Amino acid sequence: MKYKIETWGCQMNEHDSEVIAGMLEDMGYQPTDDENVADVVILNTCCVREKAESKVFGRLGTLKRLKQNNPGVILGVCGCMMQQPEMAEKIRKRMPHMDLIFGTHNIHELPQLIKKAQESQTTQVEVWQREGEVIEDLPIRRFHGVKAFVNIMYGCNNFCTYCIVPYVRGRERSRQPEDIVAEIKDLVQHGYREVMLLGQNVNSYGKDLSQNIDFADLLQQVNEIEGLDRIRFMTSHPRDFTDKLIDILASCERVCEHYHLPVQAGSTRILKKMNRGYSKEEYLRLVEKIRDKVPQASITTDIIVGFPGETEADFNETIDVVQRVRFDGAYTFIYSPRPGTPAAKMEEQVPEEVKKERFQKLLELVNSITEEINHRLVGRTLPVLFEGTSKYDENIIAGRTRTNKIVHVPGTKDLIGKIYPVRITEAQMFSLSGEILKENQDLF
Ligand code: 5AD
Ligand code: SF4
Repeated sequence: MKYKIETWGCQMNEHDSEVIAGMLEDMGYQPTDDENVADVVILNTCCVREKAESKVFGRLGTLKRLKQNNPGVILGVCGCMMQQPEMAEKIRKRMPHMDLIFGTHNIHELPQLIKKAQESQTTQVEVWQREGEVIEDLPIRRFHGVKAFVNIMYGCNNFCTYCIVPYVRGRERSRQPEDIVAEIKDLVQHGYREVMLLGQNVNSYGKDLSQNIDFADLLQQVNEIEGLDRIRFMTSHPRDFTDKLIDILASCERVCEHYHLPVQAGSTRILKKMNRGYSKEEYLRLVEKIRDKVPQASITTDIIVGFPGETEADFNETIDVVQRVRFDGAYTFIYSPRPGTPAAKMEEQVPEEVKKERFQKLLELVNSITEEINHRLVGRTLPVLFEGTSKYDENIIAGRTRTNKIVHVPGTKDLIGKIYPVRITEAQMFSLSGEILKENQDLF
């Protein structure tokens, strides 16, 4: 018996898919990339922007063919999109070939849902509107062998006015630090060298726990785990990025010098309308403080253009922030109204052509800075943790620097899982090329 999972969206979804895979493997299913031979096909969906959502609808339609060829196949759809009001019902009506529809709060019910669907031959719809307790010890099948995603908290309490996440992922729930540390120790024993601590807003970690612990304290605990080489985390909220955290980042040698710090907009007026809780000046000051303590820090960001009411002057503030901070990389998005969020109801929605024009201008600036920063690394030697072969060439091995830059070197698969010093020889927009310095091998 075989399964295939398709994942849209962020790392949080990818991690949920790892849990879904774990449960399916416990039931005796094996992974396949070929949906035509799969007995279970699951789409894990995202709804953060409209575009992702319309793609899912298209994809759900194409699954019908699988059911026609193999009536026994179980077709499921889950994830953030299902948590939206009436979405499950809409899919049940429009896509009767789907067998399972479930949400983000009840993925642990998947085995029962599959059994029920097989026995009753009817669509099983089970979407919890409310988050339950954090469930520990679900089986998990990790998709990477070198770095592992570790959830430290679920949900978000911020309610940025454009964002649907708090509605589909529920309120903030932190995992107990002992559970997190135990999971990471176990990962290290299984050969993992890097962990990515995940949460929608990792900086509010611990606020809901009875014990007195914050994200900085947790990082310090994880930093003490012997045998672990690298710690990453995402996503950070600039408002909650404390001085204490900056000091801890600077002092914890396993924590990588890469911080993803979404700014979203440059204009303080727009930031206020977004409910972000900081001004342009406060953001710039934060970046300064980080660079002061961690001079080699790589800072990446998310930016939205065309938020309701954004004027040309507001947009120029965004450009100004990008020019001043010089982000190592930025994910840029065109504002997409999400039903149920306050911003979708705001007047002064920006016309589509204006949004596109601003987006293009921003993208060009962001990319040119990324490329320039990458070019400056040519000639430098950096430790690289190798993660896998390149998508296009088996003889090229891909890894990352501590600052999260992708590096390609010619080599064989035995490099995977190892850290070697690499001399950077070439820079492209989104990656670097280099060669391993064998003579320095034992330095790392
Ligand atoms: N429109 C455009 N971009 C959005 N994001 C979140 N909601 C929206 C929206 N409605 C972006 C934010 C966030 C990233 C994950 O997606 O920049 O940080
Ligand atoms: Fe959405 Fe804001 Fe929460 Fe991020 S912090 S998930 S943008 S509401």
